[in-house]
Amino acid sequence: MDKIVIKGGKKLCGEVNISTAKNSILPIIAASILSGDKCIIEDAPMLEDVFVISDVLRTIRTKIDIDNNTNRILIDTSNIKDCEASSDLVKKMRASFLIMGSMIARFGKFRLSLPGGCNIGTRPIDLHLKGFSALGAEVSVGHGYVEAQAKKLIGNKIYLDFPSVGATENIMMAATTAEGETIIENAAEEPEIEDLAKFLNCMGANIIGAGTGTIRIIGVNELKGTTHKPIYDRIEAGTFMTAAAITRSKIKINGINEGHLKPVIAKLTEAGVSIEIEGSSMIVDADKELKPIDIKTMPYPGFPTDMQSQMSGLLCSVHGTSIITETIFENRFMHATEMKRMGANIKIDGRSAVIEGVNKLTGAEVRATDLRAGAALILCGLIAEGETEVTDIYHVDRGYVNIEKKLHGLGADIERLKM
Ligand code: EPU
Repeated sequence: MDKIVIKGGKKLCGEVNISTAKNSILPIIAASILSGDKCIIEDAPMLEDVFVISDVLRTIRTKIDIDNNTNRILIDTSNIKDCEASSDLVKKMRASFLIMGSMIARFGKFRLSLPGGCNIGTRPIDLHLKGFSALGAEVSVGHGYVEAQAKKLIGNKIYLDFPSVGATENIMMAATTAEGETIIENAAEEPEIEDLAKFLNCMGANIIGAGTGTIRIIGVNELKGTTHKPIYDRIEAGTFMTAAAITRSKIKINGINEGHLKPVIAKLTEAGVSIEIEGSSMIVDADKELKPIDIKTMPYPGFPTDMQSQMSGLLCSVHGTSIITETIFENRFMHATEMKRMGANIKIDGRSAVIEGVNKLTGAEVRATDLRAGAALILCGLIAEGETEVTDIYHVDRGYVNIEKKLHGLGADIERLKM
């Protein structure tokens, strides 16, 4: 397993280009199942999660060509026959469950291994299943599998108890060819939902209101193939904004959407970071004393849980007391234990972390316990005295394209060691 080694203390400078979004492309690949035609994804992020969902689709006889040179993915689902997907791959990545909605819509039945919990929480799928049932599918769970069958899905009104991103996406996909109209209330409003709806509408779906709390899906007879470029990854952009902040540096970030980053911009500005937007680029300047801040993670447009670990790392370096409250996932403070090994002063009290800024962090061997925790530990390594080794880096590779190369390009002393 690879590890990343960082010698802390270097300021960052220059420019970095953000890749397209992991959390957009995964549901988009799942949605391509809805049509028997070919779909093309342009400028795709070459990430481990993209390779895993592609392998899941291959197990049901989808042909997927991934071109690493052009970052183009060609998906041909014309030959899908099997209505059951390999349990090992599905267990490897929770987002595989996103193929359920498309498979029921296109084939009227599907059997898929139940995704397990993961490091950040138990992550149930009850809202996905409630949605499928409301559309008329017969859903059963047993022996580690979910099975759903429906002669015909029929549109319905579905209220989500919580605005779950995955449930909104899965139900939206299932409803595209259902008879009549489906309304999802208390839907997730994340930009990735809007991107998925854009892709589905280009395939011929009729979806109105994606990106708001109420989504209307008017069923159509069939969908066709299309070509799409996903939105930029707002979490990767937020991670590089935080890299500039933690190293008190000034950098330019290319490939951003200001609207998608509002909560991150607001909090970094409150901490004293200056941020200037120039179209789809931003200049982040943190060359000054920063102030402690409080953060509460919330569904979009609130502060993203996927930026919580990175901000925790930053606040370890800011004098004074900051409080972070995590409301989305019940176990997303595992990075705190690792940061403490680097000299951080963090106390966890239930769903909150109380962070006292320290004068310095010191390099240590730390373990990436999940994707964003790993990114946060790399950020801490950028300012730690001496050498930091972040192990279990495969978590980070799930969601960041060449993070060490991008940071190296900005002047960090960082390298990947192949184990
Ligand atoms: N939840 C339920 N029942 C459900 C579904 C969700 O109780 O049926 C709960 C979850 O347990 C959790 C909360 O609702 O407490 C939010 O879960 P959600 O369904 O919104 O998350 P997700 O779709 O599983 C996506 C991203 C995550 C991101 C969350 C929240 C993808 C592939 N994943 O997960 O991304 O944290 O939304 O914004 O889109 C990451 O990129 O690091 C990551 C974890």
